[in-house]
Amino acid sequence: MTTHTSSTLAVPQVSAIPRHVAIIMDGNGRWASKRFMPRVAGHSEGLGAVRKIVEECRRIGVEYLTLFAFSSENWRRPPEEVGFLMKLFLKSLKGEVSRLAENDISLRLIGDLSRFDPAIQEMVKYSEEKTANCRGLTFTIAANYGGRWDILQAMRRFVEANPGLKPEQVTEELLQPYFSMAYAPEPDLFIRTGGEQRVSNFLLWQLAYTELYFTDVLWPDFDESELHQAFQWFSQRERRFGRTSAQLASQVMSDVV
Ligand code: FPP
Repeated sequence: MTTHTSSTLAVPQVSAIPRHVAIIMDGNGRWASKRFMPRVAGHSEGLGAVRKIVEECRRIGVEYLTLFAFSSENWRRPPEEVGFLMKLFLKSLKGEVSRLAENDISLRLIGDLSRFDPAIQEMVKYSEEKTANCRGLTFTIAANYGGRWDILQAMRRFVEANPGLKPEQVTEELLQPYFSMAYAPEPDLFIRTGGEQRVSNFLLWQLAYTELYFTDVLWPDFDESELHQAFQWFSQRERRFGRTSAQLASQVMSDVV
């Protein structure tokens, strides 16, 4: 398995276009309520924004896009809304998988899928297999995902695979392969739409040095131009990873000469 640089152990390469973008798609319900439509209409409209953003990321060379579709806490929503989201999820997997493969996009799911309907679990498996060799973009959907769940499942599998390891022998490098996103570098850019400024139990471990971008735009209105605004903001960030500005400047100078 490929392992990626940990931002706390080594300084990763930085680029103007983020390699990995992670998004919390918030505001579907409010988008619909503002139009006197049922909340679920906002989720259907949100699917249109998902298509636009996936295709634009593929076009401009983002390598990994990760979307938070359903959190481990979203089961607390009214059962009709949860049911609708599940149907929408299954329908979109069925409808989009060929198009993803044609566009060289590989699909991955992270999260505890065991609570999902068997039809969804089968469709996920089929979609992952069908797109497994695609290299243009890795598109990850986080479903029944929680950052704490991820850390716990990694710990549990790690302990099981390494019985008898002493506490001082446990290192980040040894743990890394057990996280559900071990196949991807840590996100460079996190985007949350819908005006709230929190991480809501998304990729807690992986966001250690991610740049955090918040916008009031509601998810169904988030389009290519909004994505480019986020990239523009990102390209102006000084990513120090714990170093000082002076150290960064001298590194830039030594790269030039
Ligand atoms: C948050 O908006 C959005 C969700 C919980 C669901 C996101 C799902 C989609 C965009 C459609 C399906 C996506 C895929 C990848 C198949 P909210 O309902 O919390 O909005 P609110 O804060 O305005 O109530």
